[in-house]
Amino acid sequence: MSITMKFLFLFVACFVLAAYADDVVIKVGNLKYDPQTVDVKNGDTLVFTWLSDGSQHDVIQSDSKGSCTASTKLTSLKTEIKSSGTWNYTVTEAANTKMWYFCSVASHCESGMYGTINVVSDDDIPSTATGGSV
Ligand SMILES: *[C@@H]1O[C@H](CO)[C@@H](O)[C@H](O)[C@H]1NC(C)=O
Repeated sequence: MSITMKFLFLFVACFVLAAYADDVVIKVGNLKYDPQTVDVKNGDTLVFTWLSDGSQHDVIQSDSKGSCTASTKLTSLKTEIKSSGTWNYTVTEAANTKMWYFCSVASHCESGMYGTINVVSDDDIPSTATGGSV
């Protein structure tokens, strides 16, 4: 391989690695999750980021969109009730999986504090659609 080819190969290899797993920030606060719906892929990390809005919130998986009832399935998409900081969920689900979650505090969910996670395949996401690279 020529030097140029080697550099080209390294460049492409770095790009592929960088594109593989992304951090996707979801803001938690002000009676909503922002963005409410995210498209992610297996290996991405959801960084739930509490806005310290003076209120407490959690993230609890449900079984359908907009549901305010905890999922009946065993799940690791479940946090404590807190008012600041972050909580990370690494997506291990396969493509074409949908997950839903809500805030179980007071009537936050009824006020619209719920969200959807669409797990899609690599090809469905332009690399610019998600947050920073790991
Ligand atoms: C979650 O990930 C972010 C970004 O990588 C990091 O800054 C933060 O400390 C992590 N939070 C936890 C609770 O591990």
